[in-house]
Amino acid sequence: MKKIFFLTMAFFLVPVFSQQNSAAANLILNHYAARNFVEGAIPSSDLDTIIKAGIRAPSAGNRQPWHFTVVQNFDLVRQIVSGSVSGNVLIVVSAQGDGKTNGVQILDCALAVQSIYLAAQALGYGSRIYTGPIDTVNSRFKTQLGLPSGHNAVALVRIGKLQGQVDAVSAASARKSAQEMVTYK
Ligand SMILES: Cc1cc2nc3c(=O)[nH]c(=O)nc-3n(C[C@H](O)[C@H](O)[C@H](O)COP(=O)(O)O)c2cc1C
Repeated sequence: MKKIFFLTMAFFLVPVFSQQNSAAANLILNHYAARNFVEGAIPSSDLDTIIKAGIRAPSAGNRQPWHFTVVQNFDLVRQIVSGSVSGNVLIVVSAQGDGKTNGVQILDCALAVQSIYLAAQALGYGSRIYTGPIDTVNSRFKTQLGLPSGHNAVALVRIGKLQGQVDAVSAASARKSAQEMVTYK
């Protein structure tokens, strides 16, 4: 009887788990940097999930050097990323130091940035990573953003709604071929 129960459970659960795995692989293989955001607010429960993904990122020695500043004030959002539309949220990832010289810390922050970027797309939003505005953030907006003392921004992720969850114009750009970049030994 027990055996039949476990076999039946396996029959139903294996496809569920492999479906979940393929959903994760699909996301990692098909993400793209959104351009064409449409207006619309992001519920705070989704922002919480996206931030949790950043907090959950791995870091060297589990030092978790980052701080996440969630910018929802549209006046600030559009001053930092021009062309932003109402409802876009910026998540600024900052760390102690100048944000340029500590390579391991930058790598840690980059992993948190990537997790945030992917989590947003997993929830059906568009997302795009930015470093272009970072010098301006650090020279002009640190006080307004209330970055922790001694912190500088490393990168930010813009998150927003897409038309019908698809931004057909911004599909991913081509990548170099595996032959060019991969060596198997
Ligand atoms: C570290 C980093 C910095 C980036 N900075 C900017 C930026 O300042 N402005 C911008 O429009 N896109 C920026 N991007 C987005 C890239 O241009 C985009 O990820 C890349 O072109 C690949 O796009 P795709 O995944 O849609 O093909 C940045 C991406 C990364 C990873």
